[in-house]
Amino acid sequence: MNQQQIAIPLLTPLLPDRMAIMPYLEQIDSSRQYSNFGPLNTALESRLAALFQQHTSHSLHVTTVSNATQGLELALSSLGLPPKSKVVVPALTFVASLTAIIRAGHIPVVADIDPNSWLITPEVAMEVASKSGAQAVLAVAAFGQPLDTHSWSDLQSSTGLRVLIDAAGAFGSQWVESPDIPVVYSMHATKALAAGEGGMVVSGDADLNAHIKQLSNFGINLDANVGFPVGHLSFVGSNAKLSEYHAAVAHASLDQWDMQVQRRQDVYRPYRQSLELACGDALQWQAGVPVTAPTMLCVRMKAEARQCLERVCQHQKIATRRWYQPLLHQNSDFIQMIRQVTPVAEAIASGLIGLPFSPYMTSAEIDRVVAAVRLAVDATD
Ligand SMILES: Cc1ncc(COP(=O)(O)O)c(C=O)c1O
Repeated sequence: MNQQQIAIPLLTPLLPDRMAIMPYLEQIDSSRQYSNFGPLNTALESRLAALFQQHTSHSLHVTTVSNATQGLELALSSLGLPPKSKVVVPALTFVASLTAIIRAGHIPVVADIDPNSWLITPEVAMEVASKSGAQAVLAVAAFGQPLDTHSWSDLQSSTGLRVLIDAAGAFGSQWVESPDIPVVYSMHATKALAAGEGGMVVSGDADLNAHIKQLSNFGINLDANVGFPVGHLSFVGSNAKLSEYHAAVAHASLDQWDMQVQRRQDVYRPYRQSLELACGDALQWQAGVPVTAPTMLCVRMKAEARQCLERVCQHQKIATRRWYQPLLHQNSDFIQMIRQVTPVAEAIASGLIGLPFSPYMTSAEIDRVVAAVRLAVDATD
């Protein structure tokens, strides 16, 4: 299906329009700062920190980055792990979780997931780490479903395994209740808090965030108080700064956050209800808390039902996506990783399908998708 032929797209981002961004663009016109930790970026970090602060009494730090992939790589590089450390990562996640580990100089150990939450758990991580000798875990809040930072913090303090959370798609649901567990978010256009491209790392560790900030600016030291010349390179970083233009969009997105949540909920809730009503047990859902600002709608069905649904949708020009597939370990053999057995992830992936979802979906479109799913379920019953 090419773009013109699609009747119901997989997703349509909801970003602030140009009028909503305008006041921030005017600030750029007068500051004449376009990047390099400008005033909009600083103000954005403060606004975000205040938001996260509502969910914990520990003080938190927010460092913006150019995207979550860079945020993950720089956060992993800041954990003080020896080069080529093994890092556990769940099989069911976006490839950026994998590439960030490798680009940070480490070796991914691809692990299985929980059959109900579809997420890696501290128990699975601990088992895989003790078998493989891993020193860290990149846990993933897949499909926007938040992780319990307390239980990951318990794992970290009881085993010494360093834990980082990839919550790229979980802004608004994933909070940072444990100050010792850094969490990375995306502000990609497809995410609920969107800047076009962007990301942030949130943690309770001021030094860690300062290090990530320095790495996002090539690794150049900007701190006069560390006994190292300002302007000199003290670590090898990257250019992962959020530009002032992206910060402008992020501010406007934050201004509209409540509306963003409402519009997503207004589509998601009745859509899911209709699917449940039409298909009952034939559809399985990710267990967990309701996601605050859903960006995707993903269900599990029998493999034959999924295949049938894909044919029906192809015919009716309804876009679908096998999210996070291939699983990480099913990518090229040339990518260096340690593959653990992952029967649960494979069973889940065999019937997982992303249906169209966006805040713009009409009830007629929802009805069309639900009818297609029902057709596929009935045909393969
Ligand atoms: C789980 C996960 N990690 C990382 C990323 C990468 O985020 P970004 O596009 O901001 O680099 C994504 C993007 O969707 C994701 O879903």
